[in-house]
Amino acid sequence: MKRATMVQPSSTFVNINKKNLWVSLAIAVLSLCFVPINVSAAVRRHPPQQHHLSRKPSPKLRFGRNGEFKILQVADMHYADGKTTPCEDVLPSQVDGCSDLNTTAFIHRMIEAEKPNFIIFTGDNIYGFDSKDSAKSMDAAFAPAIAARIPWAAVLGNHDQEGTLSREAYMSPPNAQKSSAPGLVYFHIPLPEVASFDSTNFTGVRQEDIGSASVNSGFFTTLVEAGDVKAVFTGHDHVNDFCGQLTGIQLCYGGGFGYHAYGKAGWPRRARVVVASLEKTEEGGWGTVKSIKTWKRLDDKHLTAIDGEVLWSKKHTGTRRKKHINGSPA
Ligand SMILES: *[C@@H]1O[C@H](CO)[C@@H](O)[C@H](O)[C@H]1NC(C)=O
Ligand SMILES: *[C@@H]1O[C@H](CO)[C@@H](O)[C@H](O)[C@H]1NC(C)=O
Repeated sequence: MKRATMVQPSSTFVNINKKNLWVSLAIAVLSLCFVPINVSAAVRRHPPQQHHLSRKPSPKLRFGRNGEFKILQVADMHYADGKTTPCEDVLPSQVDGCSDLNTTAFIHRMIEAEKPNFIIFTGDNIYGFDSKDSAKSMDAAFAPAIAARIPWAAVLGNHDQEGTLSREAYMSPPNAQKSSAPGLVYFHIPLPEVASFDSTNFTGVRQEDIGSASVNSGFFTTLVEAGDVKAVFTGHDHVNDFCGQLTGIQLCYGGGFGYHAYGKAGWPRRARVVVASLEKTEEGGWGTVKSIKTWKRLDDKHLTAIDGEVLWSKKHTGTRRKKHINGSPA
């Protein structure tokens, strides 16, 4: 199989219309800048330092003709050796014939259903302990994105480095971003602030403790001070899948995606979709980002879409609209 090609190996800037949209391995930050629809992203790449992050030309990132940029978040795949790696926490009736390949099938289904412009894998992409060869597991885990030729990036989780690849073998330090467009930040472990929500002020479910660091590094405060960050997306806690807003920033879980990851039998694996929409100008062109919406899809028969909400809009923030979201069957 072709070696995995990361859109942004190590630290890389993707400039959209001279402004920044950058993604790195440790943390992925997307700045959704004003971009005329026919102007494609210019990509400047730093060569990856080592291993299998090869030097293929990067795909271009751009808003679609419909003025939307759609991101699929894949959290906690825990991919190991494929067909021989069994599923965790599925119903007794689902155990037979269930493996990593079900995780692969779910990505294919999500790509088919949502046709995302970008896929972000938010860590614990592989389960290092169980994988015989981490590079091979990574390749297999990301293969559907590569096959579909969709730009993608991956951040690391705590389980990615437990196998045959060290943390250093995956990444170098990210560059800083400078932009005032609405920013979306993706990383693996939830911020301690996520523990301040309860069911009265989040959308989704909380079924386990918040697995954040015991020490608050001040990262949330930094994000608030940055001013442009509108939403943060993490994984790590597989059976939490909520979004809640604190100090103008939405803190969201992706919800567990992978079948070789712990989960909850009978509670379907899921994925989060985020779409940024541009506003139409009076001249009929595209203006700046007008709204950022999200929903999740369950890996059930109909890929049921749930918990649609507006995360941010130019005028209002945090408006909940659970009934129907454009582009998603509610
Ligand atoms: C896993 O995939 C197999 C083969 O497609 C399918 O029969 C089975 O229902 C899947 N299991 C789950 C839990 O989705
Ligand atoms: C959520 O609501 C609870 C009360 O039910 C409150 O204690 C908590 O501070 C609220 N959290 C946020 C982030 O607003």
